[in-house]
Amino acid sequence: MNEERVTTAVLVPEDEDFDGSLRPRSLDEFVGQERIKEQLGIALEAAKGRGEALDHVLLVGPPGLGKTSLAYIVREELGVGIRSVAGPALERKGDMAAILTSLEERDVLFVDEIHRLNRAVEEILYPALEDYRLDIIVGQGPAARTLTLDLPPFTLVGATTRTGLLTTPLRDRFGMTYRLDYYGAEDLARIVRRSARILGVEIEDEAAEEISRRARGTPRVANRILRRVRDVAQVRHDGAVTLAIAQEALGLLEVDGEGLERIDRELLRSIVHKFDGGPVGLSTLAVSLGEEPDTIEDVYEPYLLQLGLIQRTPRGRVITKLGRAHVGAVATAESSLF
Ligand SMILES: Nc1ncnc2c1ncn2[C@@H]1O[C@H](COP(=O)(O)OP(=O)(O)OP(=O)(O)O)[C@@H](O)[C@H]1O
Ligand SMILES: [Mg+2]
Repeated sequence: MNEERVTTAVLVPEDEDFDGSLRPRSLDEFVGQERIKEQLGIALEAAKGRGEALDHVLLVGPPGLGKTSLAYIVREELGVGIRSVAGPALERKGDMAAILTSLEERDVLFVDEIHRLNRAVEEILYPALEDYRLDIIVGQGPAARTLTLDLPPFTLVGATTRTGLLTTPLRDRFGMTYRLDYYGAEDLARIVRRSARILGVEIEDEAAEEISRRARGTPRVANRILRRVRDVAQVRHDGAVTLAIAQEALGLLEVDGEGLERIDRELLRSIVHKFDGGPVGLSTLAVSLGEEPDTIEDVYEPYLLQLGLIQRTPRGRVITKLGRAHVGAVATAESSLF
């Protein structure tokens, strides 16, 4: 039993596992991002009306904002099949060719982390995206010939954390590019209340609002906090989530008033104390925190930048006045605690 749990934890990140049921299944259930929903809604209806495959869609934005959810919604709304792969998992051209040839008409091919496709795999995509054509080279040397296979019309939905990482030829082949922004507190509160309903948790509006204020604009984080808050409500109280319980749980999780977690504060402190406020290069900073540079750049930094706590300069990361104030405020709060 125990062993089984451990294995699951390793294979399926907790979030994804639990979020299965919380994932919105239709555009109507997808909260917020109104402009994207409107534009995508029109494109979907038009494609359905014509009985054609939807144009290729690129979804850009920090982790946890709903890219994967949108990809699955596209497939639901079109009523077609979906093949889902992670960019880095496709190592050889043949991997991509196998997937492409398995697609049926108007299917969705979802490629997550599409910026991490290797070049050879990416090149096989170009004619597939443009002309639904697969060029395969058979044989070697002077005897080599190109075989062309026709593919059914399909829709590529690509997801990436940053467009800047995509090559121009790939980027140009998407008919639609949508950038997901951090969610406002109101939308997040709607998401928290929706998730609470699905999980069967009773929650006060003030508690939902408190969670959403501290969820760094990210639905996945809001849902994660909600689950921990639910645990505290269940174990220490009588199950219903009040504002006081939400605050108690957020304190336990070490999520501060701005929604920063321990690692965010360490990052800020590290720039201030170890690097004299910066500038400090990404890789140096990563080593000092024991994190991967990519994780820092994709997961932690975007929100710190958004809050104006740090700045990115050509010479590295710099702490801002606000960032310094946050580190100072946290230090004071902590010294008064201990
Ligand atoms: N607009 C939304 N409305 C309701 N719930 C949402 C919304 N966006 C995201 N969620 C919730 O957040 C979870 C994470 O979203 P999702 O997996 O789609 O993010 P992502 O952008 O693909 O993240 P990553 O870059 O890490 O793959 C979903 O399972 C869902 O529960
Ligand atoms: Mg995803």
